[in-house]
Amino acid sequence: MSGLTAVTVQPPTFEQHHDGFGVQCARPRISWRFSCLDERIRHWTQIAYEIEISTKDGENSRIFKVLGNDSVLVPWPSPESLTSRACRIVRVRCYGRYSLPNGHEEESITEWSSPSRLEIALLANNDWTGRMITTSEAWPLSPDGSARPLCFHRTFKLPLNRGVVCSARLYITSHGVYSARMNGTAIGDHVLSPGFQSFHKRLHYQIYDVTHLVASSGSNKIEVEVAAGWFASAWTWARKRFIYGQKLGVLAQLEIHFQDTIDPFTITTDESWSSSVTALVSSEIYDGETYDQRLGTNANPSGHSEHFTVQESSIPVSRLISPEAAPVRVVDRIEPKDIFKSHSGRSVIIDFGQNFAGRVCVRRLRKSCGSSVTFRHAEVIQNGGLVYRPLRTVQARDTIISDGNEIVNWHPKYTFHGFRYVEVTGWSPDDDDCPLTRSSIVGEVIHTDMVRTGWFSCSNSDVNRLHENSLWGMKSNFLSVPIECPSRDERMGWTGDLNIFAQTANFLYNTSGIIRHWLDDLYLDQMEESPHWRKGVVPLFIPNNLLRKDDDNGCHGWDPMPNAVWGDAAIMVPWHLYHTFGDLEFLSRQYDSMLQYLRNGVVRGEDGLWDPEQWQFGDWLDPRAPQNDSGRGTTDGTFIADCFLIESTRIIAKIACLLDRSKESAQFGETALQLAVAWRKKYLTPSGYVLSDSATALSLTLSFNLISESINDKPLDEQAASRLSRVVRLNDFKITTGFVGSAYLSRALTKTGNSELSYAMLFQKKCPSYLYPVTMGATTSWERWDSMLSDGSVNPGSMTSFNHHALGSIAHWLHADVGGLEAIDPGWKLFRVRPRPNRELLWAETVFESRYGRIELKWTLDGEKFRLTLRVPPNSSAVIILPVEGNVHSTSKIADREQRVGSGLHVLECRFVQTIWPPKALLPPWGRAEF
Ligand code: BGC
Repeated sequence: MSGLTAVTVQPPTFEQHHDGFGVQCARPRISWRFSCLDERIRHWTQIAYEIEISTKDGENSRIFKVLGNDSVLVPWPSPESLTSRACRIVRVRCYGRYSLPNGHEEESITEWSSPSRLEIALLANNDWTGRMITTSEAWPLSPDGSARPLCFHRTFKLPLNRGVVCSARLYITSHGVYSARMNGTAIGDHVLSPGFQSFHKRLHYQIYDVTHLVASSGSNKIEVEVAAGWFASAWTWARKRFIYGQKLGVLAQLEIHFQDTIDPFTITTDESWSSSVTALVSSEIYDGETYDQRLGTNANPSGHSEHFTVQESSIPVSRLISPEAAPVRVVDRIEPKDIFKSHSGRSVIIDFGQNFAGRVCVRRLRKSCGSSVTFRHAEVIQNGGLVYRPLRTVQARDTIISDGNEIVNWHPKYTFHGFRYVEVTGWSPDDDDCPLTRSSIVGEVIHTDMVRTGWFSCSNSDVNRLHENSLWGMKSNFLSVPIECPSRDERMGWTGDLNIFAQTANFLYNTSGIIRHWLDDLYLDQMEESPHWRKGVVPLFIPNNLLRKDDDNGCHGWDPMPNAVWGDAAIMVPWHLYHTFGDLEFLSRQYDSMLQYLRNGVVRGEDGLWDPEQWQFGDWLDPRAPQNDSGRGTTDGTFIADCFLIESTRIIAKIACLLDRSKESAQFGETALQLAVAWRKKYLTPSGYVLSDSATALSLTLSFNLISESINDKPLDEQAASRLSRVVRLNDFKITTGFVGSAYLSRALTKTGNSELSYAMLFQKKCPSYLYPVTMGATTSWERWDSMLSDGSVNPGSMTSFNHHALGSIAHWLHADVGGLEAIDPGWKLFRVRPRPNRELLWAETVFESRYGRIELKWTLDGEKFRLTLRVPPNSSAVIILPVEGNVHSTSKIADREQRVGSGLHVLECRFVQTIWPPKALLPPWGRAEF
């Protein structure tokens, strides 16, 4: 070993947990990432690692040395399994081998990483002595019939003679959403905890370190305010309330540990708590909140007179889980861009300049007693007023009723809105006292606080805005679960939307926690035992909270509706997660869900493909489909379903193999072959054309490699590729694809050697096109390519949101083909670098934080000179494929078109000549067609 190297090891992480505090596992797997700034070090490969595990106080430290290359999810090395509440300090150092520019091979050892703190959660439900408490009487209702927020509280003193408090933890959850205070100080910075889940099957709880909030002498007060949240708010177009139960509840366990005694002092929720109304007169997710300052202040929400006695809740508490995903938080603040009078003159409009999910925070407001200020939220304005129609039944309204005192830093607590504009009534820039100004209010962006991992930018600012829109589409919709839009009366975890967007999402952020929880619920809801549910069918949205109950008379429920693409999420989403994060557990946990889908969730015809009588969403929102009949697009829904069924069957064959289920793998492999034969019989004409002859159909055919044979020596996939080229040119590079086709088209064109057509589509700005929304000022991905029509009016379709992540899937093409980065091996141990430059772009830069470290890729195009600069993190490697066959020369030693390189900095150059540009549309003799 020759001394220390410039390779550093970042603090280790545990399982897929976001910060190691509250890991629900006795033997957590450990991962670490590397960085290296010394450009002389090449091909650094780990040959062994050491993990040091110490107890919290630094005593009892043990080092475990393991030979090997693994640095992602290595097994817990100690023979000792951890128990509930255990704390450990863990650090890592690694032995590596690398080469220097002079070709010498060396070995070295890294410094120890900074330590990571690990704390185990409560591993068993019987670690809980607290009970879910609720009111003894019926839960009080707000005037609109919603569950009124209540505060549960308890005062206590610490026992005498127990010594100094060394740590205090609050374990807490609710039926509803909550916020907690200790001695008047807010606990934690979570928003809307415990989040949205299938509450009858799993319940997330949070752990807070409250050591600093406990008073060792005198009295302590803990208060927990609970509101309807996802548990009981009016939900969907059916506005069904109390879906998970008629009463909200709180379950809390405060454990205070002392330096000199082993037994903690514990306060748990039980009948000794009290509850009372708060200053929140009403609060629901869709409709917003009404805060009556006269009933108390934010600082003292429980200082009110209306009290309720408390008893244990009769609603069963399901399996308690400390989530791996980070909580929802305020992750960003946006200052108003503009404030102006509405067209009617009766209200004021605030423009935040960005569409997002969140809420407003009033920095300072003073009004006379009894007067109210109302904020309504919407995504777009038209004719000088906010357009509320796309929200459908949603009110998106927050109201403050003043008691005459100043209000500082007020925001609604248990709601979120999807908006760019806010209409304010009752407060104006013209007010003499405390007028509304740009500094009186701020927009708070909220979403699950995932770590950002992917970036893309290039020399074209419109394309950058398109990418930003996709990013904001994700930010706005990964809010506790991956929902589809944050604004109208849905905000549900539609399975198809995530299936389409998953690869983009996994690149932009670390989604491992949020999607894993969603998949847990997918399986549990899929296996629902109910006379109204066919077990195994994948629900259309997760949590599946619209399932009909016996007492509902079917008035609001959606009975089982097997559907491809949406259902295929059960197989494809875990598959994509596995590829990004390299965790086989994503596959083993979901394997039965996948089997159930293929065995019971697909309605098959005699040939094993989908029964054509089964209605399908198909290429949802194909721009040519009727405005209010979005499944009736130009590509047959059953065709799409069949393509996905074959792909899913192939994927599960691979998964079964990875999980050592070779017999099942062979069976699925065989079934996939049979289905592909049936598919060809059904959809290939004798001359080898594909039915339907649409961009979506051809893209799926090519993406899923559904045809490989030749007719008269002409390979059919080439024929399909030229047909796809024709369809794209015939449509003048405008979009003819919906949710499904749009996710596959550009990559299919690129894959078949027609990347110039993808670029021609990218630069087309007429409606519908990728950049059309950008030309209309979009700041998020829209639900439809033409959610706003070119005259500035809102598409009359009843489903028209301006913040849907699904069509943001175009960013996957930007990352993988324009930028040129894509995983080959799971977890990005080996990845592909294959940019497809275009003359219209001078450069593109793509960055990804893989499980090994930061990958940086930039290419520039200066005339015919193409230059690629790539940084590969230690312990991983890349296959670089330069853009042009032949004509390749290089200033570095690497001159071949395809190179495998290890870690380090690599600079390659070649000549790039683009002959076909711009490609020609296939137009009628009289010029451009009207679409
Ligand atoms: C949602 C979609 C979803 C679809 C299912 C819509 O109302 O917003 O994004 O996938 O329904 O067809």
